[in-house]
Amino acid sequence: MILIIYAHPYSQHSHANKRMIEQAKEIDGVEVRSLYQRYPDFNIDVAAEQEALSRADLIVWQHPMQWYSVPPLLKLWIDKVLSHGWAYGHGGTALHGKSLLWAVTTGGSEHHFEIGQFPGFDVLAQPLQSTAIYCGMTWLPPFVMHDTFVCDDETLMAKARRYRQTLIEWQETHHG
Ligand SMILES: Cc1cc2nc3c(=O)[nH]c(=O)nc-3n(C[C@H](O)[C@H](O)[C@H](O)COP(=O)(O)O)c2cc1C
Repeated sequence: MILIIYAHPYSQHSHANKRMIEQAKEIDGVEVRSLYQRYPDFNIDVAAEQEALSRADLIVWQHPMQWYSVPPLLKLWIDKVLSHGWAYGHGGTALHGKSLLWAVTTGGSEHHFEIGQFPGFDVLAQPLQSTAIYCGMTWLPPFVMHDTFVCDDETLMAKARRYRQTLIEWQETHHG
């Protein structure tokens, strides 16, 4: 099962993530948990989230980039759900062997994230990558949709379809 943990604070205004979610939902075996819909008061049901994670083979963290990072509810989700004795530490093996895909959209262009004036995309990914590895998960190459402010509808759709294809290819590789 592919579990998409979706964190968009303004999903009703989304252009990019909305299309990605629509495409992903067409695949059998994909479950989407929309954190801002489930927890508008930020009161995360940790047991329910852990139960969903335990059923997943591939976990996806999908969100718009906000200040070079994740939206606040996803950060809180990571802090609360990946708990000691469950995700890490003594007896904390629940996520071992699962894969983690970071699926992020950005207003900035690919060029904006090149190493130079800014630290570069691989550097920005490091806290999430480290978290995944610390919990015994396999970090996959991130799926990134840049330029979301300037992309026309056709380009957004093409990128969203590529997202769907990425998830299907993962399924085919792992389950024949
Ligand atoms: C509070 C806030 C912070 C943002 N920070 C960044 C950023 O650091 N880098 C970037 O490229 N885009 C940034 N953006 C732009 C969003 O990433 C962009 O609007 C989003 O990816 C578009 O996806 P959507 O159409 O699904 O909303 C920010 C947007 C908001 C609202």
